[in-house]
Amino acid sequence: MHIRASAPGRVNLIGDHTDYTGGLVLPMAVDRHTVIEGDQGGNEVVLSSRDEPGRAVLRLDLEDPATVEPAWARYAAGVVAVLRPVAGFAGEVTTTLPIGAGLSSSAALEVAVALALGFEGDARDLALACQRAEHVATGVPCGVMDQLASAGGVEGHALLIDCSTLAVDPVLLPQEVEVVVIHSGQRRTLATTPYSERREQCQAAEALIGPLCSASPDDVAQLSDPVLRRRARHVVGENERVREMAQALRAGDLRAAGAAMAASHASLRDDFEVSTPALDDLVARLSRTPGVLGARLTGAGFGGCIVSLVERAALVDGWRVKASAGATVEVQP
Ligand code: GLA
Repeated sequence: MHIRASAPGRVNLIGDHTDYTGGLVLPMAVDRHTVIEGDQGGNEVVLSSRDEPGRAVLRLDLEDPATVEPAWARYAAGVVAVLRPVAGFAGEVTTTLPIGAGLSSSAALEVAVALALGFEGDARDLALACQRAEHVATGVPCGVMDQLASAGGVEGHALLIDCSTLAVDPVLLPQEVEVVVIHSGQRRTLATTPYSERREQCQAAEALIGPLCSASPDDVAQLSDPVLRRRARHVVGENERVREMAQALRAGDLRAAGAAMAASHASLRDDFEVSTPALDDLVARLSRTPGVLGARLTGAGFGGCIVSLVERAALVDGWRVKASAGATVEVQP
């Protein structure tokens, strides 16, 4: 059976470091994809990549995805370990996504592998399986945003996701704006960043004041530890900014949408402390550029990309990304 599975990357318009406490996010799948093409069968998963060296030969009963070589294949190994498919696969991976740039190339790879291995289920179940795959492949306790955006994208729309229920509410992007992504040049993988530490700090705050997704600014003010207070203030404020931006996009209030993005960047920089000087410089430069409505770091931070919302005529260099449909699979007997 010949299979072609294709999964998009994502950019997050607003709502970072909120997914793993059941908060709100507003990502969109982008028109750059990871594609896996090959044949199902055999008792191993054999993958080569046009962009990365080495060929992966994965046993269906493999034990520790985190030690697989070549390292790029660990995400695929994580999917094998979670799905335990009964049949193998042999094929090639190609991608138009920049790797390690913060556009979720790893989530796209996981989702494409899962579909190539015959996953059956809805976007939500696909995303949850791939999130588990990322956990076992990297040890990083990521949230579900990236995998759900890749699996469940809707053309022309951003996705307002409530990460406590995984309900997805598509938000139409106004015709007069474009989304431009600019890479800081700082490549990184989550495993080498303090991502897990940030997640632990949020858990420590929740142990004191309860779930951050329903906490109020008054609850946050009760935290006596200044670091935990800053982390919690970011999360509580960011959930509110996601609501504001979704509402602003629906109302066509582009200035309000841009203002929410600017406030999000400041909070990620000052309270959550996941920005870098390169990201701050890019955001500052963009914010002074005519036609730019708003700009912020996107994804985990610590490098990677910024995302900006711009008027169509704005002279901004970067990747102009379009909101795209989610992952697909074509099967030929
Ligand atoms: C990474 C993780 C996501 C999310 C973002 C930050 O992309 O994979 O789950 O936590 O960081 O918003």
